[in-house]
Amino acid sequence: MVELMVNGTRVSVETDAGKPLLWVLREDLDLLGPKYGCGVAQCGACRVLIDGESTPSCVTPIDSVAGASVVTVEGLVQADGTLSLVQQAWIDEQVPQCGFCQPGFIIAATALLEATPQPTDAQIDEAITNICRCGTYPRIRRAIHRAATMLAER
Ligand code: FES
Ligand code: FES
Repeated sequence: MVELMVNGTRVSVETDAGKPLLWVLREDLDLLGPKYGCGVAQCGACRVLIDGESTPSCVTPIDSVAGASVVTVEGLVQADGTLSLVQQAWIDEQVPQCGFCQPGFIIAATALLEATPQPTDAQIDEAITNICRCGTYPRIRRAIHRAATMLAER
């Protein structure tokens, strides 16, 4: 039994200690935002926030996050249904193509803006190492700048 916070709710999961967090989220908690891409911490499709840090959940054993706060892309939406600034910027810039990789990018961008509210292109490129097979990188960059502007005007 592992207890942790997921998207603001305390949950107890009965599972193997070494089961990757990604599969606990998808199979046990029915949170399908985090995706399986590579399984080896390279593509970023499975990224979630763990205590605020963008982390690949595919290589994170569930027992290592006992007591932690995990936020998936679903958890970025406010209780009244309002999207986060990053999610809204993603829509405004019409970023996704197939969409598979996008939850991981949104998580990574959220963590970046938390640490660096007005990132340069170079800081975006350095911080966001996710892979998008559809090549949406230019729109992702624009969406991050848009979210940064919205953040500054808030
Ligand atoms: S599936 Fe986790 S980084 Fe690719
Ligand atoms: S939008 Fe298709 S892989 Fe990124």
